[in-house]
Amino acid sequence: MKVFSVKELASSYITDLKSKGLTVGLVPTMGALHKGHLSLINEAKKDNDVVVVSIFVNPTQFNNPADLEKYPRTLEEDLEKLKRVDCDIVFTPEASEMYDKDEVAEIFDFEGLDKEMEGKFRDNHFNGVGTIVKKLFNIITPNNAYFGEKDFQQLQIIKKLVSITKQPVNIIGCAIDREYDGLAGSSRNMRLTTKHRASAPFIYKTITKAKEMITSFSPVEIEKWVENEFKNQPNLELEYFTIADESNLKTVTVFDQNKNHRAFIAVFAGEIRLIDNIAL
Ligand code: PAF
Repeated sequence: MKVFSVKELASSYITDLKSKGLTVGLVPTMGALHKGHLSLINEAKKDNDVVVVSIFVNPTQFNNPADLEKYPRTLEEDLEKLKRVDCDIVFTPEASEMYDKDEVAEIFDFEGLDKEMEGKFRDNHFNGVGTIVKKLFNIITPNNAYFGEKDFQQLQIIKKLVSITKQPVNIIGCAIDREYDGLAGSSRNMRLTTKHRASAPFIYKTITKAKEMITSFSPVEIEKWVENEFKNQPNLELEYFTIADESNLKTVTVFDQNKNHRAFIAVFAGEIRLIDNIAL
């Protein structure tokens, strides 16, 4: 497994492989790898000759400096895990390699996708994600790039990003990997206290029940029901639950058979913010 921290070196190594006709799949991560990431790597291995994993905790996508500081950094363990799954290349740059001093996030026009849900609570977050993903695509020049559907809004925004930047990369969304009790895989799960970890599966249980309700109830009624369910949960605080149109991520008040709908949720389990979603 080759490990690069200098972008020119990673870039020229990959250009050389591509000139030999090999295809490259990229799995962008912020490290603290869990089995959700490993399932993205497995998908990438199926479709590509070479798999690159990037590990970079991207400062421009954090609107809360404390969250950036506390984000788990486990590079040694991550590299061990990547070796075990036969990853070909790891790109793990320092912040100074990716950003000039005082550089801020580029502003993109995501046509409103960034203003819904997460966008309402995480100011400028998606411009930060767009900025780093655009840079990574320029350095790695992947044929395919893999993103988890847990961050469904991010996935839709990255599809929009490549239509804006015209970078020649296929964006592939992969199903949410869940822990044994339904909790969506996330690097944040390792920071949950025992009490909050025990309560967290309630999130998936609730959205699963919400899905069962769609034949008899309206989106508005289901939203009210979910809000009430969380009022009885001492260890979990609901930030939002919404049912939205998958294509524009706007909240819907009625179900339209011609559209794909998805329920989205964000919950605080103590200090840890968890998100999840389910196709309806
Ligand atoms: O989903 C993530 O881990 C990050 O947002 C990403 C896509 C690696 C960009 O920093």
